[in-house]
Amino acid sequence: MDELLKIKDEALSQIEEVSTLKELNDLRVFYLGKKGLMQAAMKSMKDMSKDERASFGQVSNKVKQEITQSIEEKKEALEEAEMNAQLLEEDIDITLPSNALPLGSLHPLSVVKNDLEELFLGMGYQVAEGPEVESDHFNFELMNLPQGHPARDMQDTFYIDEKTLMRTHTSPVQAHTLLAAKGKGPIKVICPGKTYRRDDDDATHSHQFMQCEGLVVDKNVTMADLKGTLEVFAKKMFGEKRKIRLRPSYFPFTEPSVEVDISCHNCEGKGCPMCKHTGWIEILGAGMVNPRVLEMCGFDSTVYQGFAFGIGLERVAMLKYGIDNIREFYNDDLRFLNQFTRKG
Ligand code: DAH
Repeated sequence: MDELLKIKDEALSQIEEVSTLKELNDLRVFYLGKKGLMQAAMKSMKDMSKDERASFGQVSNKVKQEITQSIEEKKEALEEAEMNAQLLEEDIDITLPSNALPLGSLHPLSVVKNDLEELFLGMGYQVAEGPEVESDHFNFELMNLPQGHPARDMQDTFYIDEKTLMRTHTSPVQAHTLLAAKGKGPIKVICPGKTYRRDDDDATHSHQFMQCEGLVVDKNVTMADLKGTLEVFAKKMFGEKRKIRLRPSYFPFTEPSVEVDISCHNCEGKGCPMCKHTGWIEILGAGMVNPRVLEMCGFDSTVYQGFAFGIGLERVAMLKYGIDNIREFYNDDLRFLNQFTRKG
C-alpha cells in the first residue's frame, strides 16, 4: 500500500513539472503503460490474502484514476498553451491600412443619360437603339432630307462611302422604330446615343457628341402633349421652378417645328451671362412629326400623329454643372472627371 501511495505522489509531482506533451506521454507510459509501474505493482497481488487483495485493488484503482486524471488535466493545459503560442506566432495585424484602389466614377454624360432614361422610363417610354454607322437613307432620306436638300448643309457629315455615314443625329432611330412597328401605334421611345459631325472642335462644338431623341406616335397626339412632356423634362432636370417657351423654328422632319427655351436656372430668369442676359436658355429642338416621315415609314398620317424632340446631352450637362468647354467631356482629364466622383 505504501508503495502505491509513493508511486502516486511521485507521479503527480512529475506530471506537475513536465512542459511538453511528449514528456507527459512518456510519464503515462512509465506509470500506466503495460510495462509500467502500476502494472508491476498489480503483479504483487497474487501473493496476497483475499482481503488484502480487495483493499489493494481498491487503492490501486484509485491511484490509477488520480494519475490518469492528472495526466488529462495537464494534457489540456499543455495543449492550450501550445495553441496560444501558435496563435501568437501567426498573429496578423489586421489594422494595417491596405493600398486602396481608386474607385472610378460615372462620366457626367453618363449621369445625364441615366437621369434622362429614368425620367422618361417613369413616363412610360422605352429606350430604343440604332446604329452609329448609318445609311444615308435613314439619316437623311427618311427624315425628309432628300439629296440636295439645303438643310443637309447644316449637318457636315463624316461619310464612310457614298451611301454610308456616321449618323449626324439620333433622329434616324425614329425611322427604325416606326418601320419596326409596321404602321401600328402607340410608340413612346427615347434614344440616347453618340452622334458625329465634321465640326471644327472649339468650346461649344465637338466632332463627337451625344443626343437623346424622343418620339411619341399615337392617335390624337397634339402639340399640347409635347409641351407638357417638355415641361416635365425641364422641371426634373433643372428644378421645379423652370418654365419653358416654344419658338417657331424649322426642321425637315417635324411640322410645325419649335425651338424650346427654359427659364434660366442660374438667375431665375433675371438675366445673367449664362442666359446671355435674356432670362431664357435654348435647350432643344422639337415638333410634330412631319406626316411625310410617318408615311415614308409605313404609318397612315390621317390616323396617327406624333411629336419628336432632340436633346443635346452635352448642352444639358454643361448647363447643369456649369461646364464652359465641351472638350472637357472628351479629354479624359482626371482633374475634371474626379469632380463627378460619387459621394458617400
Ligand atoms: N435632329 C436634330 C438635330 O440634330 C434635333 C431634333 C430637332 C430632333 C427636332 C427632333 C426634333 O426629333 O423634333 O439638330
